[in-house]
Amino acid sequence: MKSITFAISKGGVGKSLLTANVAAALAAKGQKVALVEGDPNRPLQTIFGVDVGSKDVKLDDVVRGDLEVQKAVYPAGVDNLFLIPSGVSLEAYFDMNPASFAGKLMEVEADFLFIDVPFPLGEAAFLSLGVCQYFIMILTEDEFVLCVESAIDTIRLAKYLLKCVPVGFVLNRIKTPSKFNEEFVRDLEDLLEVPCLARIKESPEISKSYGGVQSEKAFLAFEKYKGSEFAEGINKIVDRLVGDLPEPLKKDPVELIQLVVGPSKAQK
Ligand SMILES: Nc1ncnc2c1ncn2[C@@H]1O[C@H](COP(=O)(O)OP(=O)(O)OP(=O)(O)O)[C@@H](O)[C@H]1O
Ligand SMILES: [Mg+2]
Repeated sequence: MKSITFAISKGGVGKSLLTANVAAALAAKGQKVALVEGDPNRPLQTIFGVDVGSKDVKLDDVVRGDLEVQKAVYPAGVDNLFLIPSGVSLEAYFDMNPASFAGKLMEVEADFLFIDVPFPLGEAAFLSLGVCQYFIMILTEDEFVLCVESAIDTIRLAKYLLKCVPVGFVLNRIKTPSKFNEEFVRDLEDLLEVPCLARIKESPEISKSYGGVQSEKAFLAFEKYKGSEFAEGINKIVDRLVGDLPEPLKKDPVELIQLVVGPSKAQK
């Protein structure tokens, strides 16, 4: 199983939107994909139009009650695609049982596991990057400098402490494509030492698919706009993910979480 998180310590760059659409594109290729929704605002349920009830088993119930993880896996309404609602914000697992959080996710049976977190900073970042083997950064034209700084910080934390391998970066919400020309992108690739996987423009249609409209009108842009520039960008990310990825840096995410969180918390 390849475990991946879209990470950057900046909000609103399109992490949830890209997670949902990349996952759907992978699923359309026949890959079995599981998505951990680590955001209590339920962005993924909104995009997929599914509603896991408040009384249904979620990942936090699995971790607290030591249940089978399969009990918190729900169909996302797309073939091969499944949702694992977290129930609580990711940082809550830090005090609950971070090692079991990692262990339960390792028992998920899928080709790909994605973890979506609202603002991967602090403890949430430790868990998402600590569990996942790979991450992809997203940089936007708005607050670009902040995005670059955040990308550098994320690489340092992820690669050297949490043993999570950067696969590349995505330029999303591009409003001035001429600014992000080949030469500029090459410089960015040199700086971040990973390839640019896709350049995706800011588009009103995409914004309408999630966040820009009432939640009940949200939809999966990749499916609705097949053949669009957006779908092409998503497919480029997918091509990279189904190909050979670099060797993972950690053998056992549970062990790593125990190491970085400390034995006392992990053994609670
Ligand atoms: N390429 C795009 N074109 C237009 N709008 C976009 C694009 N990508 C993302 N958006 C919009 O940006 C907003 C933020 O997207 P999203 O919620 O996926 O970001 P996020 O990084 O998950 O945010 P958070 O940090 O709050 O979890 C949404 O309204 C979404 O529709
Ligand atoms: Mg989000």
